[in-house]
Amino acid sequence: MKLILLGAPGAGKGTVAKLLAEMDGSVQISTGDILRGAVTAGTELGKQIESLMKSGDLVPDELIMDIMEQRLQEPDCEKGFLLDGFPRTIPQAEALKGLLAKLGIELDMAVNLEVAREVILDRLTTRRTCSNSDCQAIYNVKSNPSRQAGICDKCGSPVIQRDDETAEAISHRLQTYVEKTAPLIGFYEKEGLLLTVDAAGPSETVLAAIGAKLAAA
Ligand code: AP5
Repeated sequence: MKLILLGAPGAGKGTVAKLLAEMDGSVQISTGDILRGAVTAGTELGKQIESLMKSGDLVPDELIMDIMEQRLQEPDCEKGFLLDGFPRTIPQAEALKGLLAKLGIELDMAVNLEVAREVILDRLTTRRTCSNSDCQAIYNVKSNPSRQAGICDKCGSPVIQRDDETAEAISHRLQTYVEKTAPLIGFYEKEGLLLTVDAAGPSETVLAAIGAKLAAA
């Protein structure tokens, strides 16, 4: 499958992308994971974007498009991909449209995960993430705790709160979402690709709604 996952911070894009990837071998491509990996590794890109990410600002469109133009041409994308956190602005969506046309790739859907703000705030303050940048497994102290508190089930690394999970950064990320990312819902509706899913319930229900729509397409 070739999907875009849209939704506010904490809507469940990463969680749903990982579960969908297990279903048919499509690859999850999370720009957030790629950028956090660069920060942890201390690369030139990482140094350039660290403070932007910590405060909850978006990374410049040109940097993101450079990364994604290369990433989408890697061999593991041939089976399908789940774009998690990308595109994030109208210029990114326009650039992605041009890139996919150039590569001869057709998207199946842009799935908008809809969740009320109170649920999002609760999910973000209770989320925990594996600190190993090659893993970045997602947990939640309420809905999906790791088996041993503070330790990743998959790789054994410490499970932590992200740098952008302070109250101030969360509030800024939500505001940035409303201003810059929510307009993508209208963009993909016009493209005839939008599927809006109520993502307040358990992940299994969200997956079933996406699966049913894909099967009917
Ligand atoms: P990114 O990593 O993409 O963060 P985000 O969009 O803010 O999204 P999150 O990762 O916070 O949430 P999510 O929707 O994946 O939810 P999750 O599955 O974890 O981006 C971080 C930063 O990188 C940005 O601020 C920006 O600086 C930069 N960046 C990234 N991409 C960029 C781009 N394209 N352009 C420019 N800058 C970019 O779930 C949240 C919690 O809820 C978890 O604990 C989970 O266990 C729980 N949960 C999930 N689903 C359910 C459910 N159904 N029921 C109960 N609990 C659930």
